[in-house]
Parts: sequence; C-alpha cells; structure tokens
Amino acid sequence: MKYLSLHTGAKMPALGLGTWRADKGEVGRAVTEALNLGYRHVDCAQVYGNEAEVGEALKATSVAREELWITSKLWNNAQRPEDVRPALEQSLKALGLDYLDLYLIHWPVQLAHTVMYPQSRQDFIAWTTEHALETWNALEACVRSGLVRHIGTSNFSTKKIQVLLDNGSIRPAVSQVEMHPYLQQDGMRAFCRANGLAVTGFAPLGSKHRPAHQHREGEPSLLDHPEIVAMSERLGTTPASILLGWAVTRGTSVIPKSTNPDRLRQNLAAADLELGEADMALISAMDMGYRFLDGSHWMLEGSPYTLENIWDGE
Ligand SMILES: NC(=O)c1ccc[n+]([C@@H]2O[C@H](COP(=O)([O-])OP(=O)(O)OC[C@H]3O[C@@H](n4cnc5c(N)ncnc54)[C@H](OP(=O)(O)O)[C@@H]3O)[C@@H](O)[C@H]2O)c1
Repeated sequence: MKYLSLHTGAKMPALGLGTWRADKGEVGRAVTEALNLGYRHVDCAQVYGNEAEVGEALKATSVAREELWITSKLWNNAQRPEDVRPALEQSLKALGLDYLDLYLIHWPVQLAHTVMYPQSRQDFIAWTTEHALETWNALEACVRSGLVRHIGTSNFSTKKIQVLLDNGSIRPAVSQVEMHPYLQQDGMRAFCRANGLAVTGFAPLGSKHRPAHQHREGEPSLLDHPEIVAMSERLGTTPASILLGWAVTRGTSVIPKSTNPDRLRQNLAAADLELGEADMALISAMDMGYRFLDGSHWMLEGSPYTLENIWDGE
C-alpha cells in the first residue's frame, strides 16, 4: 500500500474504503472484508447513517488501531462551535473509537441544528467567514483534547481553505474533493502541494449509486469512456482500476465505495498500478471540469447557497 505523508509526519493510506450509501446490513460485512484484504483506511461520515455498523466491524477486527486510518465528517447542522465536539463524540461513540485520524467539515454549507436535510429556506444559515473560523477553532480544540489527530475540509474551494490557513492555529491536513478524469482539480492539487495539504478524491468511479435526483440526463460515464476502456484492455485490467491507479499515480489518495468482495479486491490492487506518462497524458486530456455532485441540492428556492458561492468559481 502507498501512503501520503501529512504535515504532521503521519502517513495516510493512499487507497481507502468509501462508505456513502453502503447500506445497513452490508456495510459492516464490507468493512470486515476490506480489512481482511488489507485496506487500512475507511472514509465515514455521520450523515451516512451507518457509522455504528462500521464501528461493529472495527471492534471485531484484529488489526491494531494504530494501523488504521479512520476519517469522519462534521455534518452541516453541527457547525456552530458548541455543536462541534458533541458531533465528533457522537461519531466516536458510534465507531467505538477514542480518537479519529481525520475529521473534515463536510460542506461549506450551514444548516439549522435540528435539520439534517433542508426542506425550506428557514433551514439554511448563510455561510460567513466568521462562522467558518468559529467552527475551525472548535475543531482545533478537539485536536488539543486528543479526540482527533488531523482536521481538514471537504468540498471547500482553495479560497475557503486559504481563510483557514491565514487565521487558524492548526493547519488543515487534507482537502477532500470530488476528483476523477472529468474533474481533475489541477488548481486544488497545486494549491495543496504549495500549502502542505494532502488531497483525497471522492466519487473516483463517477458515483453511479448516488440518489436519483442528483443524476443529470445524458451525463458522461467514466467507466464506459472509450479511452479508459481501451486502456484497461491494453493493460489487462479494468476501467475502475485505471481510474483508481490514475489517482494514486498522481499522488492523491482515493476512497472508492464498494460492498462487493470482488470489486473490493480489484480496487485495492489498483493502488499498486503505476500508469506511464503516455497514459497519464491521455487521461489528462479528458478533463472537462464536470462535477457529478455539484451541490445543487443546497439550492432550494430561497437558499443563500449558489454554485458561485459554494465553489468560488473554481
Ligand atoms: N466529502 C463528500 O462530500 C463526499 C461525497 C461523495 C462521496 N464521498 C466519499 O467518497 C466515497 C466514494 O465516492 P462515491 O461513493 O460517491 O462513488 P464511487 O466510489 O465513485 O462509486 C461507487 C459506485 O461504484 C461501484 N463500484 C465500486 N467498485 C467498482 C468497480 N471496481 N467496478 C465497477 N463499479 C464499481 C459501487 O458499487 P458496488 O458497491 O456494488 O461495488 C458503487 O455503485 C464515498 O463512499 C464517500 O465515502 C465523500
């Protein structure tokens, strides 16, 4: 397994297991299977609703805690400073852990505390730099209390990360963003390299299992892209392996979700696939800035959130 070095000197396994929409009754088995295969990194979130079952699998494993890398995420309704530690403690309790390796602010979107998913404009709180810094300071306190080793961001633009770098006392360690050949995030990668953050890519296979309302008609399919399919045939592997090998070859970490034993095995093996320069260049040409998860579900009528103020034009 390859590892990414973080600014603290800690090492994060380059390939991890995604758990979004890994159903209850399946996710525990998938985590157990993954750990047996050699996965050491699991990407979780409170809002995925399955942390307790992930925790059962973590409790049952013989893999030592210090070999594991466990990430979770602070949901949008718990960003007020007084809600941060309780939310982290809730994830720790569900996961059966006494610390997390990484805790991320899930979205640059704030919701009222009682709201998981917004239904109307009253459910939203507008994003402000001041609020973001208060949240960050509360996360820093959790690092000082030993509840989490690293903190970071998810779905943040470089502009929003810069605010944390300029004003925080603990640096964000990881930027987790959607990343795949259709959305290569070269600007984010360069920014993170310059500022000592690691990048983790989500939806590396195109997130086909996301909810129906988040699909768009005629959207492109990474796994069926002729260039990716041809490359996989030439190299005697699968399209998914090409997509994951590409992510690891360019120095990012990647967290494909699967609950299927064969695909879990295939995805883990892809972390050792080194793509050559010519193949990397072919994939480079596929970038079209396309987001499968563009956050438009935060844009109900009357919501203060827009594509522009979430992504800052990036
Ligand atoms: N920070 C965020 O806002 C955010 C957003 C989205 C996702 N994430 C994280 O990133 C993880 C990955 O993203 P994702 O779940 O959206 O999508 P993804 O990993 O791109 O795609 C998962 C889908 O691909 C299938 N799949 C897995 N391996 C495959 C293979 N080798 N060949 C063909 N199909 C394969 C899975 O089905 P099977 O299970 O049947 O194999 C599932 O339907 C999430 O689970 C979550 O942990 C974070």
